[in-house]
Amino acid sequence: MKKALITGITGQDGSYLADLLLEKGYEIHGVVRPASTSNTGRIDHLVHDPEIHDVRLFLHHADLSDSASLARLLAHIEPDEIYNLAAQSHVRTSFDIPAYTADVTGIGAVRLLDALRETGLHARFYQAGSSEMYGKVLEIPQRETTPFYPRSPYAAAKVYAHWMAVNYREAYSLFVCNGILFNHESPRRGETFVTRKITSAVAAIKAGLQHKLSLGNLDARRDWGYAKEYVEAMWLMLRQEQPDDYVVATGEAHSVSDFVIAAFGHAGLDWRSHVEIDPRYYRPAEVDFLIGDAEKAKAKLGWVPKTTFGELVRLMVDADVARLDSRKE
Ligand code: NAP
Ligand code: GDD
Repeated sequence: MKKALITGITGQDGSYLADLLLEKGYEIHGVVRPASTSNTGRIDHLVHDPEIHDVRLFLHHADLSDSASLARLLAHIEPDEIYNLAAQSHVRTSFDIPAYTADVTGIGAVRLLDALRETGLHARFYQAGSSEMYGKVLEIPQRETTPFYPRSPYAAAKVYAHWMAVNYREAYSLFVCNGILFNHESPRRGETFVTRKITSAVAAIKAGLQHKLSLGNLDARRDWGYAKEYVEAMWLMLRQEQPDDYVVATGEAHSVSDFVIAAFGHAGLDWRSHVEIDPRYYRPAEVDFLIGDAEKAKAKLGWVPKTTFGELVRLMVDADVARLDSRKE
């Protein structure tokens, strides 16, 4: 049985990746950062399954800011694959806590890479890179060869982690892949990211629990895909003969207002009666337009996106409506 270590297993992608790798027969070790309240909501369906928890899924306390905890874990688990998904991943928040973001999102990746090098294990390593690294884009659409122009402390930290991953691959011949993933969403998306903020508000407005939704820049355009499909691309990268870097994207861009219109429309609501603009949600520097070219992932990994923008919006709204309905029962 192959062993995978997942940092960020309590996050959106980590939870879907855990589902996928369990289906594929892996033994999973997840890094959970110690917290005073439970942070395992997205993997509770696994934690509460006695045939999985402590049988094929093991959770360990560690933190990307603590080198010793990471080195100890690697030596103890001896994983075949490592997926580094943990990060301070909120772009707006990174302007408020830039040094912390650099420490966790940037240097955290290096701590894990270095723990791998020090232990002498031959584990394959996935680093969660981001389309935010393209920032003020220098090419449309963005592909693996497009230069980076980060526009936030988060994006700058991810650029650092990206190049350190390349460096560890070249300097120490480690099998390290960078996935450059464009925005991907799901019902498990954190509620402060714009898509989930919109769909959870739509459900609450429909249920009569909320009236207004405050948003920032409605003109920003993103290449939005479905998270459940994107974690499969991570796994496929580690199946290749040679380590490499891949863009993962749908190749379609939509604005925040497109998302708003589609989400309110699906619930039979008029968005103009509910959405208001609050400058608090503007960013000191914005990324206006991201659209990816995933031809390399298609050609080499056989990966293609399946869920359309409209389907994604509908499945997220439906999930939030169902969640509120189940609370009423
Ligand atoms: P997410 O939901 O915000 O999850 C982040 C995870 O990192 C959570 O499990 C969080 O733990 C953990 N974490 C945060 N700080 C940590 C620390 N100091 N030590 C250990 N764990 C820590 O993010 P996501 O959407 O799943 O994204 C996964 C990765 O892909 C992130 O690196 C993100 O930056 C990157 N990415 C995401 C997208 C996207 O559109 N979703 C696109 C490109 C790249 P808690 O549960 O305790 O907070
Ligand atoms: N969060 C948020 N909240 N964003 C808003 C709001 C709001 O109220 N109103 C408008 N936006 C705009 C933001 O200004 C941004 O242009 C866009 O919506 C998307 O914001 P987020 O959903 O927060 O995502 P992001 O694109 O900044 O970052 C996400 O995707 C990256 C990949 O490109 C995160 O998941 C990052 O971790 C990830 O790397």
